[in-house]
Amino acid sequence: MTTPALIDLAVQRLRAGGLVGFPTETVYGLGADALNPLALRQVFALKGRPVDHPLIAHLAWQPEVEALLAPWAEVDPRAVALGRAFWPGPLTLVLPRASGLPDELTGGLPTVGLRVPDHPVAQDLLRAFGSALAAPSANRFGRVSPTLPEHVREELGPDLLVLDGGACRVGIESTIVDLSGTQAAILRPGAITAAQVEARIGPLAAHSDTRAPGTLPGHYAPRTALRLSAHPELEAAALSAQGLRVAVLREVEPVAYASRLYAELRRLDQHGVDVLIAALAPEEGLGLAINDRLRRAAFGSGPAGGDPQT
Ligand code: TXA
Ligand code: MG
Repeated sequence: MTTPALIDLAVQRLRAGGLVGFPTETVYGLGADALNPLALRQVFALKGRPVDHPLIAHLAWQPEVEALLAPWAEVDPRAVALGRAFWPGPLTLVLPRASGLPDELTGGLPTVGLRVPDHPVAQDLLRAFGSALAAPSANRFGRVSPTLPEHVREELGPDLLVLDGGACRVGIESTIVDLSGTQAAILRPGAITAAQVEARIGPLAAHSDTRAPGTLPGHYAPRTALRLSAHPELEAAALSAQGLRVAVLREVEPVAYASRLYAELRRLDQHGVDVLIAALAPEEGLGLAINDRLRRAAFGSGPAGGDPQT
């Protein structure tokens, strides 16, 4: 349970340049003052993340979306339309950045990623803090994102203050829409689908030239070898017949699959099996985002790990 006293303690730590783990509706974030370069450098150090990977600035909700965006980015009518439709919620917008933002936040890019999370603990924290929090997923670089507070402690150690918001509702990271060019594009699929975005701002580009460094193959990787299959039970039977120990990850309904995906990957990864087999979701809507994460996880999986840098 996150009490007002814990929110106060978290705000004190953040104002002093410290880091705090907190829940969002997608995954747990590792929060730091988005305007404090030294605090941001600690985020990269604790995660083991390359410093040129930009962070998302998380903002407290207010219904005047122009006023919400203006201190951070160039205000664009498409951003206002998407903010009104989907914030607070699992959507990140990449926009030309306002002046005065630290390069540590934006990875030196001329753009900034902005998101208004809808978890009540995240909103309480942001309102009490009074400014933006940079918050990457609270995992070590290249590993599975945390969806429970104990995952954050497993990843980043027992000394970090982690606000408890229970299990994350969505379970996979926000949809990232790039609005820095003339045609909008999805940089990372998520629970807000391309069709939902297109319904508000018109057609999306099929590809974007924008760099989204976190969209590397080999992210979200378990240590156990992970295989993907449309028929996981058949594959499991074949591998078991060869004497391998196998565990299967599957869920029929995509919303439930997304919300349990990372916790199940973590749980099964500690099971001591030789191979994990995950069912692919239908290639549409939220299923596209689930399969995106599964493919990255499979690419980097296995005892030797993939190389998330390549
Ligand atoms: O759901 C989420 O977005 C979670 C929760 C905690 O809010 N956060 C998250 O942060 O997933 P992170 O740092 O793990 O992933 C951020 C992604 C990276 O792929 C990064 O490259 C991309 O956002 N990104 C951030 N700012 C960007 C920018 N200006 N241009 C392109 N990509 C950007
Ligand atoms: Mg991440």
